[in-house]
Amino acid sequence: MTTAQLPPTLPQVSWSRRHLLGLEELSAEEIRTALQCSAYFARCSASGEPPRPLLAGKTVANLFFEDSTRTRSSFSLAARRLGGEVLDFHASASSLSKGETILDTARTIEAMNVDALVVRHRTPGAPHLLAQNLQASVINAGDGPHEHPTQALLDMLTIQQHRGRIEGLTVALVGDIAHSRTARSNIWGLLRLGAHVILCGPATLVSRRWEALGVEVSYSLDEILPRCDVLNLLRIQFERQQARPFPSVREYAHLYAMNRQRLQRARPDVLIMAPGPINRGVEITADVADGSHSVILRQVTNGVAVRMAVLWLCLCVAAGESG
Ligand code: NCD
Repeated sequence: MTTAQLPPTLPQVSWSRRHLLGLEELSAEEIRTALQCSAYFARCSASGEPPRPLLAGKTVANLFFEDSTRTRSSFSLAARRLGGEVLDFHASASSLSKGETILDTARTIEAMNVDALVVRHRTPGAPHLLAQNLQASVINAGDGPHEHPTQALLDMLTIQQHRGRIEGLTVALVGDIAHSRTARSNIWGLLRLGAHVILCGPATLVSRRWEALGVEVSYSLDEILPRCDVLNLLRIQFERQQARPFPSVREYAHLYAMNRQRLQRARPDVLIMAPGPINRGVEITADVADGSHSVILRQVTNGVAVRMAVLWLCLCVAAGESG
């Protein structure tokens, strides 16, 4: 076997957090560690090398009080591929409908000897409340419009794989910044790793208050387009809005949808990303979503690796069992 064929080796890292609640509280060093471990698990999957059963004997419960396709499935696959057990909790078929609180529900699940709770809830801070009151690790899988740390990590891993770095790149988050937890986690992570971040969308969805953190705010996609290395196109979160933030979806698409004409004016190596689900024709047209600049499905693939890394770090490395 030559060196190039050797299986990737598990990184020796230090990590002390049992919970992953957001990227705002992580240092640049911690974000780099999470990305380094994610890259290792991504290489294992790409090489067909079965990952070591690092989560053997551990149980991960998915507590999703909001809908999910990618995040929920990838946490389940990540835990199973590392030899862990998965308990899938369905809020709609639970005792929540009988008046049980989220804390009592979580305590009940924890009492079944669960090691980690992966939590998605529409209330900002819900995973933080559970982390303060439970022994198990709590991983935030999206708390309302607040944070979605594993999504930002998989976005950054995807950028790193394609560009070799984050530092110095110009990354635009386009769309519904006001209601997007993906946007918030990306802002913290990208700024900490030295990217130039542009927030772009209608004035009703992008606040100038973000400028205080050192991001650029723009209301014109056409103006920023030629300067961007990465465009991350965010879905309009109609379900979180009280009133319509623009006159019509058609008008929004006219100003902010990434389409073929705009792609021609972008950098030749621009990366087109989206956390999904995508609404074809609204934030992105079908030809761009499926075109050669799009790394949307690579983001999905990377989601499993990132969740393997996060579960391993919080459940094993933080407990002194790095394997
Ligand atoms: C995002 C979410 O749920 O916040 N999706 C995801 O996790 N892949 C973004 C969205 O719903 O638009």
